[in-house]
Amino acid sequence: MTTAPVTALPHPEDQELIDRIIGDQAGRPGALLGILEKLQEHNRHKYLPMETLEYVAARTGVPQSQVYGVATFYALFNLDPQGTHTIAICRGTACHTRGSRALLERVKLQLGLQETSDGADKVSLTTPDHRFTIRTVACFGQCALAPVVEVDHAIRGHVKEQALIREIEQLRKESAR
Ligand code: FES
Repeated sequence: MTTAPVTALPHPEDQELIDRIIGDQAGRPGALLGILEKLQEHNRHKYLPMETLEYVAARTGVPQSQVYGVATFYALFNLDPQGTHTIAICRGTACHTRGSRALLERVKLQLGLQETSDGADKVSLTTPDHRFTIRTVACFGQCALAPVVEVDHAIRGHVKEQALIREIEQLRKESAR
């Protein structure tokens, strides 16, 4: 099978890691998903760089378009560097009705990401120091707890603006130590 040429190679140490992960997952059902998941887990900024995707395609023989398609289809994959802390704010209908837009705007303001807003509802923004990523989610499936926010993978329900601001401030202080 022919695949598109690799435009840039990952660092040799990363190539070793990728080869090892591909070897571990070989022959398993959903191997490509598993490979990408492990690679993102191991990436310092929790994302899949383009050269990694190209390298995976070259080593597995899966077309680049298919590797890229999987990486962009699943919300769990990131194509840009992520912050150490992630604040995911639900923008589903129940959460919207209960004030999630105001929460989103307030957190953006707190983290100095206000200017980068283009008014779009789908947001994924990372602070320049890579300490925080704010992103929006379509629905956490916890609508009875609206508004719902996930802070570093922990779900918070009935979120109040001031409590959220305090929690983020606390994380900011801790990560500055
Ligand atoms: S709409 Fe927010 S959890 Fe469902």
